[in-house]
Amino acid sequence: MSEHVSLILEEQTLPGSTRKSLKRSWKQLSRCQRNLIISAILALFITCFMFLPQSKPEEEELIEKLTKKHSLETPEFQNSQKNNEIPREPESDGSNEPEEKIQIRPEEKALPPVESQLRVSIEGKKFSGPGNLRQKAVVEAFQHSWKGYKEFAWGHDNFKPISKTFYDWFALGLTIVDSLDTLYIMNLEKEFLEARDWIDKYLLFNQNRNVNLFEVTIRVLGGLLSTFHLSGDEMFLRKAVDLGNRLLPCFNSPSGIPYSDVNLKQMIAQSPTWLPDSSTSEVTTLQLEFRDLSRACSNSSFENAASAVNTLIHNLEKHDGLVPIFINTKTGKFRNFATVTLGARGDSYYEYLVKQWIQTGKTPEDDLIEDYKTSIDGVLKNLVRKTSDHHYTFIGELINGKDFKPKMDHLTCYLPGTLLLGHKNGMPESHLKLANELMETCLQTYFVQPTGLAPEISYFTEEGNSNMPDIYVKAADSHNLLRPEFIESLYYFYAITGNKTYQDWGWKIFESFIQYTRVENGFTSIGNVQNPSDTRPRDMMESFWLGETLKYFYLLFSDDRKEIDLDKFVFNTEAHPLPILN
Ligand SMILES: *[C@@H]1O[C@H](CO)[C@@H](O)[C@H](O)[C@H]1NC(C)=O
Ligand SMILES: *[C@@H]1O[C@H](CO)[C@@H](O)[C@H](O)[C@H]1NC(C)=O
Repeated sequence: MSEHVSLILEEQTLPGSTRKSLKRSWKQLSRCQRNLIISAILALFITCFMFLPQSKPEEEELIEKLTKKHSLETPEFQNSQKNNEIPREPESDGSNEPEEKIQIRPEEKALPPVESQLRVSIEGKKFSGPGNLRQKAVVEAFQHSWKGYKEFAWGHDNFKPISKTFYDWFALGLTIVDSLDTLYIMNLEKEFLEARDWIDKYLLFNQNRNVNLFEVTIRVLGGLLSTFHLSGDEMFLRKAVDLGNRLLPCFNSPSGIPYSDVNLKQMIAQSPTWLPDSSTSEVTTLQLEFRDLSRACSNSSFENAASAVNTLIHNLEKHDGLVPIFINTKTGKFRNFATVTLGARGDSYYEYLVKQWIQTGKTPEDDLIEDYKTSIDGVLKNLVRKTSDHHYTFIGELINGKDFKPKMDHLTCYLPGTLLLGHKNGMPESHLKLANELMETCLQTYFVQPTGLAPEISYFTEEGNSNMPDIYVKAADSHNLLRPEFIESLYYFYAITGNKTYQDWGWKIFESFIQYTRVENGFTSIGNVQNPSDTRPRDMMESFWLGETLKYFYLLFSDDRKEIDLDKFVFNTEAHPLPILN
């Protein structure tokens, strides 16, 4: 193939005398070679044509207005640079981040050649791309993030958009894997094909390092499986099966409660020495993915291993259906006096109870859904309180399993959406009421902040104490990591009710993200949502910004609220849609 490229180049650069020899060379080629060259030129034309910009200029005005306004040069950014702020360690919603930097093999920097992209045919479900201005603005934000990632962090886990470098956590190209189905849903063909090519060639799991079972399951296994289902491309399934096999050793613990970490090459699982227990939400947030993997590849090993954990947890004693956030892999028992929360390390236990029930066809009297109903009653009885002035409903935590603390993680704002999804599938009216009340509270955690962005953790002033505002923030918690949970809830509310108010609220929040988190090469988490003139950018773009937050924004703004049909798909906790089984 390289032969014909040089021929074409010669034609363009050499004087007329060589034209004849060129013609002669052409005649000397076999018919097969000539056909090859002609097809290659045709393919090149078609590709160029396909990717011509399609939006009309006036439609782009709004997007431009949104995006040009706040780039790296905003004064708040310059200030924080001048202050020589010490960059903080990146955060994530899990833990166990490895300290060391990983050297990515140099060849991974190379972008895939065009030929390999042309060979891929996209099958499966079709998406038509953005249908209105708001969706276009989300796609623009996505492409802006993708461009920076591709230029400076390609193949690495997370992009640091200000220092234009990267952060590797598991060295599994997390941003690419998490983005696959978003790219597919947004109908970004060029980007999807370059991501697909990277997965095919460079996402190799025989790496001699420990990774976190939960994080890799929800992001990597979930991302591969949902992209397999949406696109019909079996390469993604082959990768998922390889990964699934390497994760299985986690389940070989004395109790059957999985270890939190596994070495993907040696296939040896363990708990980190500093934390002998596993997180409750982590061991109970694998089942959607492992079940789907089993059904997709017709091997029940994965589903069986993960479902056994359901049974173990179901049989443990709980406090009104509520679970402590740590569980021991040796004894299989909850840690005494561990915190009870619907935030970090507790949240998705409750989420996967109802979602697994939906995934498996809503069997009545199912243990999972009974546990779910019990737990929501437990939440109403033990964790729900009202604020002093506006009587906002919030969910607190039980510290040491008993002392109420009026504190709610942003993570908990997935709950209104999940409660509404449950109600749509037959859960009681009390769930709908709580969903609506929490929707309002979570919205206020955004709207009361001068930036319009919610902090990582909000505190509430309970009824009877009126010397503090209803919602307040502690300095250590005032960061925003570009998290998706509330956008996810807005999406469910819109998709289930069709009420456009939720789109309008989402748009306001989207504008705030554009205004305060967009930088020249991407989007960054910020250190302070309380001061618009000193947001303290943190130089980190987590993979869930592309995998979850922007996906939910895109689906929230869709004119077709069944763009992903909630009767056919259930989203895993990382926003990767998996099919509901018949
Ligand atoms: C299913 O997967 C398990 C785990 O990798 C493997 O041991 C087993 O041989 C597989 N079964 C079949 C029928 O392929
Ligand atoms: C839409 O939702 C908003 C906010 O919950 C509510 O105030 C409004 O009445 C709803 N509109 C309709 C038509 O139901």
